[in-house]
Amino acid sequence: MRTSDSELVVRKIEADFSEARIDWLPSDPELAQFWNAVSIGLPMLEGHLIRALAQAKKHLPEGRDDLFRDCELFCQQEANHTKAHLKFNEKVVESGLYPEITQHLDRLKSDYIRFDKEMDLDFCMHYAEGFETVGPILAEYFLVQANKRLTEQGVDLMTLSLWRWHLAEEYEHRCCAFNVVEALYGSYWRRIRGIIFATSHLLGFVVPLSEYMLKQDVEAGRVDGGFKGFWRKFRSYTGMATFMLPRVLKAFMPWYNPKHLKPPKGCDAVLNIASETLSLNEMAARAYETI
Ligand SMILES: [Fe+2]
Ligand SMILES: [Fe+2]
Repeated sequence: MRTSDSELVVRKIEADFSEARIDWLPSDPELAQFWNAVSIGLPMLEGHLIRALAQAKKHLPEGRDDLFRDCELFCQQEANHTKAHLKFNEKVVESGLYPEITQHLDRLKSDYIRFDKEMDLDFCMHYAEGFETVGPILAEYFLVQANKRLTEQGVDLMTLSLWRWHLAEEYEHRCCAFNVVEALYGSYWRRIRGIIFATSHLLGFVVPLSEYMLKQDVEAGRVDGGFKGFWRKFRSYTGMATFMLPRVLKAFMPWYNPKHLKPPKGCDAVLNIASETLSLNEMAARAYETI
């Protein structure tokens, strides 16, 4: 029997967001709203990934018990991410500051309903693999950036810890969807198409929603707009793009395999504290241990 590329650990994390902040990165509100918009869409996205992997594991070739087990652990990890993000998202929605969130979510929901109805497992698994290819890149970007920002004035360590834990687990389960796609389809071009489609689909939801949330903030005077805001956003977005693009292009190479990706700096420390505490609030209290 084959063994898994890396042992996945399911951590049932408790989280109390009552004291957490939506504007968790005061020096870069544009970046915070970008990630808030990702958080808002994640439960639907992860629901789609869970349905795809839960279906795919039934079609694995004989003898791939390792992969079957990975699919189960993957689904449990994603379900835990969704539970934590739903709590954070509830806080954003209940703030009443962004009443049009529901319309944005309805559009995303209708896409996933359509995918479930009209698209086959091949499409859904390549979509899942596409997103999961970007996951460890986002993890590397976020963990490096987050460690730099831990000591900034006013940064909310609870929300930061939500992302640090979630993305560290995205790194941890990076091989699962890739291995399933390899075992079931093994098509290079469909893999590339999946990465491009999943990324642009997610950005098509995140960018308009974060723009809307920022517009509300500027209109209410919570965030400076004008040139200052434009410049911060330009720096944040180009910073993310210049970090992500070369790494996504590397993932396009025919010899790419996520098992060769090194853990981002701080990733193991974040996961160890997550395993020890099983609490985002305690992880926030111990965040400085991981710099
Ligand atoms: Fe996740
Ligand atoms: Fe994931």
